[in-house]
Amino acid sequence: MIDTPFTFTLPLPQVIPSRVDNHIERRLSALRGQFLDEESFIKMLSSEDKLIYEVYEIQRPQLDGELIMGISIVHPGKVGKEFFMTKGHFHTILETSEIYYCLRGEGYMVMETPEGEASVEALSPGNVLYVPPRWAHRSVCTARQEDLVTFFAYPANAGHDYGTIEQQGFRKLVMDGSDSPEIVDNPRWTKSR
Ligand code: PA5
Ligand code: NI
Repeated sequence: MIDTPFTFTLPLPQVIPSRVDNHIERRLSALRGQFLDEESFIKMLSSEDKLIYEVYEIQRPQLDGELIMGISIVHPGKVGKEFFMTKGHFHTILETSEIYYCLRGEGYMVMETPEGEASVEALSPGNVLYVPPRWAHRSVCTARQEDLVTFFAYPANAGHDYGTIEQQGFRKLVMDGSDSPEIVDNPRWTKSR
């Protein structure tokens, strides 16, 4: 396939790309089993299946050499003391890297490898984060009122493995501490494979 170059814009303040092929909305129910405080999760879900995050994708053919780009918007809020977050995933092709550029808000990227390493990097406007191959990643919004908005780009043939994280969770959690976010060990983390 021969293609021609194109540009698009990320107009402030909404930062929704001027060219979008796919708009994904993920609600609270999609994160079942991921938040530590099950009781708060069930209570919250019984009143509303709240919108937790959205992704605007610029699609490309899922071929070697192509890149998928987009904007991820994690809305502010908490389940119990745990901040709203994305499902998080490994890429199906584990040897995949990804770039994130934070445009708005405050938060963290929670990451880990199958080999047992863990890393939690702060995100604030202007930060560029490189997620190396093999690192699962989850974005967490810690601002009280503002969305966490990031631009991302990754190889279009990477695929998403959500199942591993659905089963084992992430090793680290981001909780609301007394005056700042706290990164704690996940007491329920279990190796799934
Ligand atoms: O591939 C990525 O890391 C992003 O495009 C994410 O898909 C996006 O941030 C949403 O997160 P998730 O795919 O974990 O629901
Ligand atoms: Ni990814």
